[in-house]
Amino acid sequence: MRVVILGSGRGSNAEAILAAQQAGRLGRARVVGIFSDQPTAGILALGPRFGVPAAFVDPAPFKTKLEGEGEARFIAAVKACAPDLVVLAGFMRVLKPGLLGAFAGKIINLHPSLLPSFPGLDAIGQAFRRGVKLTGCTVHAVTLEVDGGPILDQAPVRIEPGDTLESLTAKVHQAEHALLPAVIARLSKR
Ligand code: GAR
Repeated sequence: MRVVILGSGRGSNAEAILAAQQAGRLGRARVVGIFSDQPTAGILALGPRFGVPAAFVDPAPFKTKLEGEGEARFIAAVKACAPDLVVLAGFMRVLKPGLLGAFAGKIINLHPSLLPSFPGLDAIGQAFRRGVKLTGCTVHAVTLEVDGGPILDQAPVRIEPGDTLESLTAKVHQAEHALLPAVIARLSKR
């Protein structure tokens, strides 16, 4: 199963996927490309480290969504990798019908809350401020509804009385780093 990863940030989840692959824990999945909408994103440094092609793709003209010329550039870059699965690992843009249609049924997203609770931005902060005792992370299929597609798996994280936003963030990331590679490995065995 050929996997392309899209991300905008430091890439700790992409790193967890690549580490799982190196350790033989990614089933039949193999990462064949990494693309970012941010030219200096940490995720791009994983390419040379793990021997995977990694590149910035210009997302212009929009700031928060991927549509028009930027979307066309992403479709072309991802298509060239002939992916069976496209993984959004911290890709902070709203996808539109062009890209969703080009890879229909093949796109999954990681979100740092137990959806449908706390969709959207700053999900960990939202959960922390709301005072819930249980949060976590979700991997779901991507549809036009932001953070709304069918849930594939979730991992819970307890918010303890002594937790700070920082400690909770670390715990959610730790849960993500286990969940996302496990879901990819499972999908690769279907
Ligand atoms: C992760 O916590 C992921 O759940 C979140 O961005 C972070 C990326 O971290 N995604 C979203 O909030 C999407 N709505 P990373 O770059 O270290 O993998």
